[in-house]
Amino acid sequence: MIQPKNLKAQIEKCLSPETKNIINDCAKIAQEKDFRIYLVGGIVRDLLLERKIYDIDVTVQGDAIEFCKILQAELDCKIIQIQNDLRTAKVKFSNSIEIDFASTRKEEYPEKGHLPIVTETGCSLSSDVYRRDFTVNAISSSLNQNNFGEIEDFTGGLEDLKKKKLRILYEKSFIDDPSRIIRGLKFSVRLGFELEEKTKQQQDEYLKNPNRNLSWFRIKSELQQAFSLNVSEVLDKCVEQKIYKIFSDATNKNIKAKDVFNIINKYKSEITYIWLVYFGVLLTDKETIELFNFEKNEKRLLVDALEMIHENFYTKDLFEIYKFFENKCIESILIFYLVTKNENAILFLNELRKHKVLTTGDELINMGFLPGLQFKQIFDSVLQERLKGNIQNKQEELNFIKTLKNS
Ligand code: CTP
Repeated sequence: MIQPKNLKAQIEKCLSPETKNIINDCAKIAQEKDFRIYLVGGIVRDLLLERKIYDIDVTVQGDAIEFCKILQAELDCKIIQIQNDLRTAKVKFSNSIEIDFASTRKEEYPEKGHLPIVTETGCSLSSDVYRRDFTVNAISSSLNQNNFGEIEDFTGGLEDLKKKKLRILYEKSFIDDPSRIIRGLKFSVRLGFELEEKTKQQQDEYLKNPNRNLSWFRIKSELQQAFSLNVSEVLDKCVEQKIYKIFSDATNKNIKAKDVFNIINKYKSEITYIWLVYFGVLLTDKETIELFNFEKNEKRLLVDALEMIHENFYTKDLFEIYKFFENKCIESILIFYLVTKNENAILFLNELRKHKVLTTGDELINMGFLPGLQFKQIFDSVLQERLKGNIQNKQEELNFIKTLKNS
């Protein structure tokens, strides 16, 4: 990669005509109203690498909310979110294009691992970039008309982009915000980059003595993004580099990341939470789950997986196998299988779960049975016969049930 001084060509090449029009309109207004605005962060990195753009972040040197109010008055757009403490605003333009506008700001972390506090807004661009995670995410490009596209690189980000290195901006960066370690994991896999030597040392240092009094929300969000890439390398690196130590002292080291990837892809159409299968195979205790503010479904599937692993029930009885896995979601079953290698899980998924009792409760009532325990016994008996292959269809079920009535 040559080191460009200007991002104009990449903006022209990689952004849609609609996005370019919006950016040009913002640039025009910034010029008229005397604001200085910049693209900063992931968008600059990805434009330089000519990669897919995920989201558009604009930094306003001054007050972003004031700037967005002017945009709203002059353009076809609407402010859809304001965060007063950070002086940020999200604006929705025509074609549903959304842009995040942030005021330049300085931050401090009085409580390590928790959200930072803003100590100054409207500061210079050079002070703003030093609060960021990696040098490659701290490159900016002017959107002002007089120097449109001009790159400002205060931290050596262009050089690191060329060398494919992720370098933190200050020594205590991971202590302030350990979610940056998982961001590093995400970027290293997504971009094919490596941690620069001192950054790796700082990461190793942090992981020797991780802080568990954290803002887990950001850790969860970054883990979700990293594992949602659905590539085995994320899990490999997470174990190799001991990144799991952020949330747990121990992990299952015998898991092969490639096996996780393969099994996920085999059952992909049924899986809702791909990232939780990767996360789940790392888990060894319930306490780890409690750290995160999981939604009910997410928590349930992880707790089920751990309980099943703990029990690791092995039998040759098809009915017992069926009952063990019945009502468990696919994610829990896959986590269980990957950790225990208990083939009954695959037998259940590929064969046993196809068997369903077709007779309904109403039909049993019509046949003179009483609702309650007796129903359960009948359904279980029918299921057992189905699993043995003695019953193939509904009529055979009804015939079998009649024999129960008579017995
Ligand atoms: N940032 C940071 N520390 C974090 C999160 C974000 O310094 N824990 C900074 C980085 O400069 C980043 C920018 O805020 O580039 C925007 O954050 P985000 O949208 O999460 O990062 P992107 O780099 O755009 O990542 P992605 O490509 O995954 O959207």
